[in-house]
Amino acid sequence: MKKNILITGASGQLGQFFVEKLAENNNVISSDVNVSSELVKKYDLKFLDASNEIKVRKFIDKYHIEEIYNFASILSAKAEKYPLKSFQLNTNCFLNVIKASTSSSVKKIFWPSSIAVFSKESNLDYVRQDVIMNPTTIYGASKLACEKVINYFNVNGLLDIRSIRFPGIVSSSSPGGGTTDYIVEMINNIKSKKKYICPISPNILLPMMHVSDAVDASVKLMSVPRNNININDSYNISSFETTPNEWKNLICELGYNLEVDFQPDFRQKIADSWPRKIDDKQIRKDLNWKPKFNKIKTLKSVIENYNLT
Ligand SMILES: NC(=O)c1ccc[n+]([C@@H]2O[C@H](COP(=O)([O-])OP(=O)(O)OC[C@H]3O[C@@H](n4cnc5c(N)ncnc54)[C@H](O)[C@@H]3O)[C@@H](O)[C@H]2O)c1
Repeated sequence: MKKNILITGASGQLGQFFVEKLAENNNVISSDVNVSSELVKKYDLKFLDASNEIKVRKFIDKYHIEEIYNFASILSAKAEKYPLKSFQLNTNCFLNVIKASTSSSVKKIFWPSSIAVFSKESNLDYVRQDVIMNPTTIYGASKLACEKVINYFNVNGLLDIRSIRFPGIVSSSSPGGGTTDYIVEMINNIKSKKKYICPISPNILLPMMHVSDAVDASVKLMSVPRNNININDSYNISSFETTPNEWKNLICELGYNLEVDFQPDFRQKIADSWPRKIDDKQIRKDLNWKPKFNKIKTLKSVIENYNLT
């Protein structure tokens, strides 16, 4: 049966893919504060400020919303420029969605966390599910704070909130100011034929994932019975790892001309505090899930979506 699903932050890098996937079998109400006429036309996008609890509640009541996917946020690199504003927005939007959902038609909430919750104490070479987390970025701190709230609501049976710690997401949509944006921006620069200035060092290994795998795992997580879920805060997930240098070489091996200058800036420090590799055994077991896209398949798929072939 079709469910009524509200997506906040739907204009962003991830939101659009969730709208498309969920709209296959559901009535999706997509919303954002950034309502470009193109997206309004394509997705019937509506203006909704997720930091306004009353407005969120009005949407829930008007559309009899049963599930919410909350993507309204400010990403890692942008967040470092406006730390307090970003912490407030990232946590407030989520808390408002929770408040507005309490005693309403909403049965489940999906909320994306990030590998930014980890820190040097987490054993960054291979980060297990349940480790010490002392994030040194404001973005990581906002994600960890929300994870604690999720745990509280789940453990006390107050609301059913499901969450995944995404790595860098690779897609053909524009990234919104994250530390792993280089992976999409390099492909973008093939088209513009401009030299790419990479803001992180050539050999820093970071976990990445094709957007379709991120969407599939999230939708699957939202569909399983609560009893199948063994993690009350947020699941680790992973697909492949790469470095900027390797990614550039893979692009060139496919026959594209891409010039890259490595000029690490403040984002290097953020990347240094993030994992190299993630242990995601638990989500694979609980959902019987595994990624469909490896490194090269991801690259080819995004290039194809850019119509570069
Ligand atoms: N993209 C990634 O690589 C990645 C990795 C890990 C986690 N995540 C998480 O996934 C979620 C979505 O990320 P994204 O890459 O699509 O981000 P994005 O920056 O591309 O999109 C975020 C969207 O939120 C909207 N927004 C901001 N303030 C709002 C408000 N008050 N009300 C409603 N909408 C508002 C913005 O307009 C934007 O469209 C975020 O929570 C992010 O932390 C993303």
